Amino acid sequence: MFSKKEVANQTSTIDMERIPQHIAIIMDGNGRWAEKRHLPRVAGHKQGMQTVKTVTIAASKLGVKVLTLYAFSTENWKRPTTEVSYLMQLPIRFFSTFVPDLIKNNVRVMVMGDITRLPEQTQTAVKDAIRDTADCDGMVLNFALNYGSRDEITRAVKSIASDVSAGKINPDDIDDDLISGHMMTSELGDLADPDLLIRTSGEERISNFLLWQLAYSELEFVPEHWPDFDAESLKEAIIKFQGRHRRFGGLTNK
Ligand code: FPP
Repeated sequence: MFSKKEVANQTSTIDMERIPQHIAIIMDGNGRWAEKRHLPRVAGHKQGMQTVKTVTIAASKLGVKVLTLYAFSTENWKRPTTEVSYLMQLPIRFFSTFVPDLIKNNVRVMVMGDITRLPEQTQTAVKDAIRDTADCDGMVLNFALNYGSRDEITRAVKSIASDVSAGKINPDDIDDDLISGHMMTSELGDLADPDLLIRTSGEERISNFLLWQLAYSELEFVPEHWPDFDAESLKEAIIKFQGRHRRFGGLTNK
């Protein structure tokens, strides 16, 4: 364990030349954050939205190229209707106030997941944000909304199978690159696979997130609940990432 001071010293030693290009985050612990304060669960989501703003700006200033945030999973529909409705309002609230800051910071919004199931107003907010930030060529802020990795893989397999049966490709053409090209991250090209996955709130699971893309990602499980995560927490996670030896199945560091 590091003392607070040692952590502070570590924080100052972040290597700006080796910032992970793609960071993905499972933003967990909003409910527990609220319950600890005797607040309704949605208060945790509201505070979590503020954290999204803080972490987006911090990541962009550090030079991260893609920040993928797991905002709503295909399994989250099982939650009580009031909570689901609140979560569906969050993108509307977020983009209605934050798009000018995103543009100021040259951040482009992207969304992966089946947004056709979201309420009309939420879809409009998302599409407007994508349109309004389309010319930004800095960091990509990629929201996973109604996203599930098994759903993504199922769709990819169906699409590849239909290309085979239509004679567009041969089964022998199917390789890593072709499969990646059918994933919802294909728009990200070489940056599709996260270098670093962070999950907050101490849970150590992947929860149906980016199962294909995480093949060689470094995983960081941090104890803070998402509303308590901040720019310092992000830097600490990056410093730990920088201490890892990535070998991608080989023997040498990359
Ligand atoms: C998991 O915590 C969190 C979610 C299911 C929702 C995450 C959403 C946000 C942080 C806000 C997103 C903001 C925008 C702009 C879309 P949990 O509720 O499972 O927490 P618990 O495990 O403590 O119950």
